Parts: sequence; C-alpha cells; structure tokens
Amino acid sequence: MKAYRGQPEIFAARQEKDRYADLEIRDLSLNFGGVKALTNIDLKVRNGELYAVIGPNGAGKTSLMNCITGFYKPKSGRIIFNDRDITRMHAHNLVKIGIGRTFQNIELFPGMTVLANMLLARHLYCRYSFPGAGLYLPSVRREEVRHRRLIEELIDFLEIQAIRNKNVASLPYGLMKRVELGRALALEPRLLVLDEPFAGMTLEEKEDMVRFITEINEVWGQTIVLVEHDMAIVMSISHRIAVLNFGEMIAEGTADEIGRHPEVIRAYLG
Ligand SMILES: Nc1ncnc2c1ncn2[C@@H]1O[C@H](COP(=O)(O)OP(=O)(O)O)[C@@H](O)[C@H]1O
Ligand SMILES: [Mg+2]
Repeated sequence: MKAYRGQPEIFAARQEKDRYADLEIRDLSLNFGGVKALTNIDLKVRNGELYAVIGPNGAGKTSLMNCITGFYKPKSGRIIFNDRDITRMHAHNLVKIGIGRTFQNIELFPGMTVLANMLLARHLYCRYSFPGAGLYLPSVRREEVRHRRLIEELIDFLEIQAIRNKNVASLPYGLMKRVELGRALALEPRLLVLDEPFAGMTLEEKEDMVRFITEINEVWGQTIVLVEHDMAIVMSISHRIAVLNFGEMIAEGTADEIGRHPEVIRAYLG
C-alpha cells in the first residue's frame, strides 16, 4: 500500500487484523406492514472493497443500511460480519465491533462544536470503564490523549481546521456532511457505511467528498459500503455495485457490467 502524507498516523498504524472487514448478507427480507422494503437480498462485501448500493427512491437502500447497522431487525435472513452472526445485535454493540456509519439526514448534535461532536463519538465508544474514568487513572489519561490525537488527525485530513470550534448547526450542508464523515471515522470502523454522502451537495462539495472517500478506501484500505443515487459518481468510484428496485436486488457487478445490464437500464436509467 502506498504511503500517503495525509493519512492519519493512527489509521496508518492499524494492523490488517484490526481493520479486516468481511460482510455477508444472506436471503434478507424486511417488511413494514404490507410494504416489502427488502426481499431476499444476498450480497457479500469483501475486505478493502468500496461497494455501492444504488436504486431509485424507496428502493430499500436505507433499510438495508439500517439492517447492517442494527437499526432495523429483518423479518428473515442473516447478516454475517467477520464470521459472526450480527442479525440481532443492537446498533451500539455493532459500533463496538467496528461498524460505523453516517446518516442520510445528518445526525450530529446541534448546539455543539465540530470538535465536541467528534470527541463525543469517541467517548460513547471508549474502552475504559466508568470507575477508572472517575479516578482519572494513567491508563485513562493515555486513552484520552489518543482520542484527542486521533480527532486532530481527522480534522487535518478532512480540512476542517477552520471550523473546528464552530457550532455544527451553523455550517453549510456540505460541511456538515464532512463533519459527519469525520465523526464516523472517529469510531475507527472496520466497515464504514455511508448513506448518501453526496446528497444535497454542490458540485465542488461533491468533488471534495469523492476525494476523501476514495483516499480513505484506496490509501487507508478502509472497507466501505455506500448508498447513492447519483449514478455517475458511483460508476466512477466503486469496485462493485448492487442495484435495488422495489426492495429486490436486480443486478450486481462492476460499473461496466451494471452500465450495460438490460434490467438496470430499464428500471433505473430509464
Ligand atoms: N421506518 C419505516 N416505517 C415504515 N416504512 C418504512 C420505514 N423505513 C422505510 N420504509 C419503507 O420502505 C421502503 C424503502 O425505503 P428506504 O429504505 O428508505 O428506501 P431508499 O433509501 O432506497 O430511498 C419505502 O417504501 C419506505 O416507505
Ligand atoms: Mg434512503
């Protein structure tokens, strides 16, 4: 893997075994009353991959991400992460075993600064116990120093130094999305799940986001599952793409394969 100046040291130091991610979805179905949000979904995301899920509005993309990250429980089927069945695990436990995400409708803590939002993500996930934290033991102090260093490295990487002390609610939309990416990365995820990271952005903001996401994937070796409806972006950055339509996976393959898939052209490209 090529060395890159901008890669946070803490991420560069991660061992392969500490960032390994391997996701398998087996025959997954999810209903809301009479609505079939997902029907018999099968897919595998390999370690190091940038895997995209596309499809029209209401196709089930967010529902699938919510199943992977523990926010929805499927009706049937299995989700296996690094050989572990995580189908029934809760969202906060999934964060602890390495599944970090961003949300389609940004979920930052309003009224708090960029820095505070990112630090809070670390603390919610921190390893030390409360008694230790109360006594402020040396091990806790070391951990605290590491939290701060990692956040500073992420702030540098994402080029958000200028807004680190700004209230997140005061930021333009594109920058909020960038802070949310920072917050998800602060969890040091093995698998990073991004739900429409480019939505609502200007062209320039999208270009910046593409740059960050491809660097995180290619240079850091971060495994990513990304939901997007902008076909052009997905085609240019993804290793493989799954296409959902009315809760069913109608195609999966490389950008080339998806681009000439007759059912995709009919259902999605119109
Ligand atoms: N919490 C929910 N309650 C009821 N219906 C839902 C819920 N979440 C999603 N749905 C329904 O599931 C279908 C898929 O939605 P969603 O996963 O948000 O699609 P996408 O992200 O591809 O636009 C839609 O018909 C949507 O209305
Ligand atoms: Mg969605």
